[in-house]
Amino acid sequence: MATWQVSVLTIFPEMFPGPLGLSLAGKALEKGIWSLEVLDIRDFARDKHRSVDDTPFGGGAGMVMRPDVIDQALAAVETRPGPVVYLSPRGRLLDQALVRELAAQAGLKLLCGRYEGVDQRALEARNVSEVSVGDYVLSGGETAAQVLLDAVLRLRPGVMGNQESLAEESFERGLLEYPLYTRPADWNGRAVPEALLSGHHEKIRLWRQRQAEEITRQRRPDLWARYRGGKSED
Ligand code: ADE
Repeated sequence: MATWQVSVLTIFPEMFPGPLGLSLAGKALEKGIWSLEVLDIRDFARDKHRSVDDTPFGGGAGMVMRPDVIDQALAAVETRPGPVVYLSPRGRLLDQALVRELAAQAGLKLLCGRYEGVDQRALEARNVSEVSVGDYVLSGGETAAQVLLDAVLRLRPGVMGNQESLAEESFERGLLEYPLYTRPADWNGRAVPEALLSGHHEKIRLWRQRQAEEITRQRRPDLWARYRGGKSED
């Protein structure tokens, strides 16, 4: 199978592959299931100070990444497959549905911002989509890009050994995952739920389904409402 190409644009290239060089993603990187190209945005600066940012028009705190520099960096990955995604707290919130969409792309190009963000014109000129990893502010897009890649890569064929376990996970069916247990069957006086020791597959499936529903109902009323809404037959 062809290598899935990822390009990252950042002013901190040494942050990559970071945690993605270990574990499942790291093994898949070594095997050539995906490839990682990291470009230093500073290499596209043209002045002698290699400046990538400037003060915001209209005033205000912090600095803004320059459109000319960002545009040149994006031009360098223009021919690479897949969409350009800018990691930003203003973007579409990353959830498992978006993770699936991104995993189905031909590749990914990730733009990591620093300072207050990137000049709007560069984003518009290069047709950049924005994705947020949550309603909180990080000091840069690099860790957000790693979160996104971690979630996306594990859906790519050949990255996870056991594709079956993917279907059972939290969010895949619109529910949080049921609780998990392993040996010993009795630990410090705490027993494993009876149903799981029965060896009766249908009983186990039902127990897990009920637990997943109960945990979702209690912890995530938002997910629960959507799940209930999607189930038209009951
Ligand atoms: N950059 C800073 N905060 C971010 C967030 N929450 N998501 C994506 N990129 C970011």
